[in-house]
Amino acid sequence: MTINKRNLILCGFMATGKSSVGKKLASLVGYDFLDMDASIEAEEGISIPRIFAERGEAAFRALECALVERLASRCGLVIATGGGTIVNPLNLEKLKGCGILINLTADIDTIIARAGSGEDRPMLQQGDRRERIEKLLEQRASSYAQADLAVDTSSLSIEDVAKLILDCLRESGRL
Ligand code: S3P
Repeated sequence: MTINKRNLILCGFMATGKSSVGKKLASLVGYDFLDMDASIEAEEGISIPRIFAERGEAAFRALECALVERLASRCGLVIATGGGTIVNPLNLEKLKGCGILINLTADIDTIIARAGSGEDRPMLQQGDRRERIEKLLEQRASSYAQADLAVDTSSLSIEDVAKLILDCLRESGRL
């Protein structure tokens, strides 16, 4: 098995399991785990909902871009992106250049159930929850489709998703 330490980068819609699966995947493969949203919150010293409320979405997206820029020169990481990170084509290009991009998906009922009250997710605050998710999924579909691998997490445990990703990467000689 060749381990070239290209980053393993989880993308995909909110509540598809990027952070939980990322942690598990990192422990299985022996890489460090980096959660982009948690890094931004730690660096800014405030929560993402507060960044959106006090500075606006554009300010949050600029922080995301700056972080992607820094991550592009690193290796040996499992990275959990935010649900909107790769919607920006520049972020998509930089992340694809420094690792293998894995898209986690889930059906809409699972997303709604996992998102709970959604109060920690500012992108879900407007209007009817289901309609909002459907619209965002439609708008983002072409970005998520750029990933190297996709895994539907709807009916799998965190551990099973992480193991499935590893199996796929190993079978295809990418890890
Ligand atoms: C966002 C998803 C969130 C977070 C921010 C914006 C989005 O991350 O980055 O609230 O645009 O989909 P999660 O996907 O971890 O919820």
